[in-house]
Amino acid sequence: MIVPSALLALAFSEVAFSLPSPAAIPGGAGLNETPVYQPLSPFDYQSFILGLNQEYLEFALFQDALNTFSDEQFAAAGFTPNDQYLVQYMLEQEVGHITLIQNILGGPDNAPKACNYSFPFETVQDFVDLSMKITRTGESGVFGFIDHLDSRAAATVLGQAVAVESRQQMVFRQFEGLFPFPYSFIPVISQAMAWTAQTQFTTSCPATNPKIEWQAFPYLNITNAPNGTALPDGNFSTPSLSSNRTLSQPGNTVNLAWDAPGMQVGPDKNYTTTTNASAPKFAAWVSQLNTTYTPLTNISGNTAQTLQPDATTIFGNDTSTTVNGTIFVLITDTDLYVTPFNFSLIDAHVVAGPALYIAG
Ligand SMILES: *[C@@H]1O[C@H](CO)[C@@H](O)[C@H](O)[C@H]1NC(C)=O
Ligand SMILES: *[C@@H]1O[C@H](CO)[C@@H](O)[C@H](O)[C@H]1NC(C)=O
Ligand SMILES: *[C@@H]1O[C@H](CO)[C@@H](O)[C@H](O)[C@H]1NC(C)=O
Ligand SMILES: *[C@@H]1O[C@H](CO)[C@@H](O)[C@H](O)[C@H]1NC(C)=O
Ligand SMILES: *[C@@H]1O[C@H](CO)[C@@H](O)[C@H](O)[C@H]1NC(C)=O
Ligand SMILES: *[C@@H]1O[C@H](CO)[C@@H](O)[C@H](O)[C@H]1NC(C)=O
Ligand SMILES: *[C@@H]1O[C@H](CO)[C@@H](O)[C@H](O)[C@H]1NC(C)=O
Ligand SMILES: *[C@@H]1O[C@H](CO)[C@@H](O)[C@H](O)[C@H]1NC(C)=O
Ligand SMILES: *[C@@H]1O[C@H](CO)[C@@H](O)[C@H](O)[C@H]1NC(C)=O
Ligand SMILES: *[C@@H]1O[C@H](CO)[C@@H](O)[C@H](O)[C@H]1NC(C)=O
Ligand SMILES: *[C@@H]1O[C@H](CO)[C@@H](O)[C@H](O)[C@H]1NC(C)=O
Ligand SMILES: *[C@@H]1O[C@H](CO)[C@@H](O)[C@H](O)[C@H]1NC(C)=O
Repeated sequence: MIVPSALLALAFSEVAFSLPSPAAIPGGAGLNETPVYQPLSPFDYQSFILGLNQEYLEFALFQDALNTFSDEQFAAAGFTPNDQYLVQYMLEQEVGHITLIQNILGGPDNAPKACNYSFPFETVQDFVDLSMKITRTGESGVFGFIDHLDSRAAATVLGQAVAVESRQQMVFRQFEGLFPFPYSFIPVISQAMAWTAQTQFTTSCPATNPKIEWQAFPYLNITNAPNGTALPDGNFSTPSLSSNRTLSQPGNTVNLAWDAPGMQVGPDKNYTTTTNASAPKFAAWVSQLNTTYTPLTNISGNTAQTLQPDATTIFGNDTSTTVNGTIFVLITDTDLYVTPFNFSLIDAHVVAGPALYIAG
């Protein structure tokens, strides 16, 4: 039967009229309430003060570099004036992120204040590599807790900040002349892992600041880690938009050394590293959606070796390999199966870490 087109149009318009309005579609949370852009639980509060310290730390890092290096030193590292300005602009982005989280915490008078920070860079290359790793810790640290926050409203605006942090991380890879993002997903880490990383650069805080309650794990070093700015010919790399530089391969031997628990670390050395784990057995490689375990071998005291994991793809054919880009490495006592939303269950099994490793 041939339906006259006028009839068809009528039929469609009746369908359109009978559809429910979008607001009536069942499900969703927080759609018809006044948003509360504030912590709603101790979990929220501790997550936001951790996030704020990360933003202060990044501000201090970029400011330190801009104060330390002359225009000539940036130019000698292959930075154009516009590249250098991009670092300046990222500093300004941090002011926005700091203000946002201060507002969530009741404004600048009520929020914790900036601490003193210290960064172990001597050259522009060191600064760029360190910034790439610190912004990776920042983005993954927030992605680890954002969907567990009680305040969905505050999570929304924090997510808007972390999207920019992820762009910063990518720019620093490009400043190193590395491929900008050899992966499809940003990994998540726990607050304890983010705090463990922050304690390494946070030297002293105002006495009025609240104590950060997340666990700090013993530190882990990868003593033969690939150097993101070193070229095979002995020179350093320079900024490039996209490149095909190989730093490490599946099967590489990785040398690990970690501290015993009980060290005084962090601001005013007022935090003690702890672990709930038993004997070290695995290296955990936290990357994309996946945590991949490789057995530790040649364990001797607090050192061991392991092999960089195989180039397994996340979802099979033509998807990216699980271990590529900047990976978090941990020492664990078991190969616990965790996925992004229950990742922090691994905390009870962490012997040491994280350390950052550039794979691929
Ligand atoms: C930062 O360090 C300076 C110099 O050591 C010190 O005077 C100041 O009190 C410290 N500030 C904080 C917030 O710890
Ligand atoms: C090292 O790299 C810089 C920046 O690309 C370049 O100016 C310099 O000539 C290189 N030096 C050597 C020895 O290749
Ligand atoms: C990494 O390589 C850079 C040269 O680009 C060098 O300045 C730096 O000292 C190296 N870092 C380490 C930890 O060896
Ligand atoms: C990237 O490098 C790999 C290994 O060196 C090589 O097989 C591949 O062809 C290169 N890709 C491009 C686009 O140059
Ligand atoms: C890790 O490396 C740092 C910096 O080189 C060093 O001070 C520390 O002693 C090392 N720790 C271990 C356990 O190797
Ligand atoms: C260290 O932390 C304790 C609470 O755990 C606090 O009473 C003390 O003031 C802190 N010391 C410094 C120097 O921040
Ligand atoms: C452990 O040490 C032995 C002897 O030094 C070496 O042959 C082996 O490759 C090491 N294992 C790993 C995984 O590096
Ligand atoms: C990586 O994680 C995703 C999400 O949990 C899962 O679907 C996928 O099978 C994992 N891939 C590998 C190689 O383990
Ligand atoms: C991978 O590709 C092979 C060959 O084209 C095909 O037989 C297989 O079904 C593919 N597997 C997946 C997970 O897509
Ligand atoms: C984490 O979640 C996955 C499902 O995504 C589940 O299979 C796994 O058992 C959970 N891990 C733990 C330690 O509960
Ligand atoms: C570690 O053990 C302490 C003491 O039993 C406990 O309070 C804490 O929740 C444990 N932490 C983790 C991550 O399991
Ligand atoms: C990592 O990603 C780069 C860029 O896509 C690719 O050339 C390289 O083969 C990958 N390496 C591994 C080990 O997957």
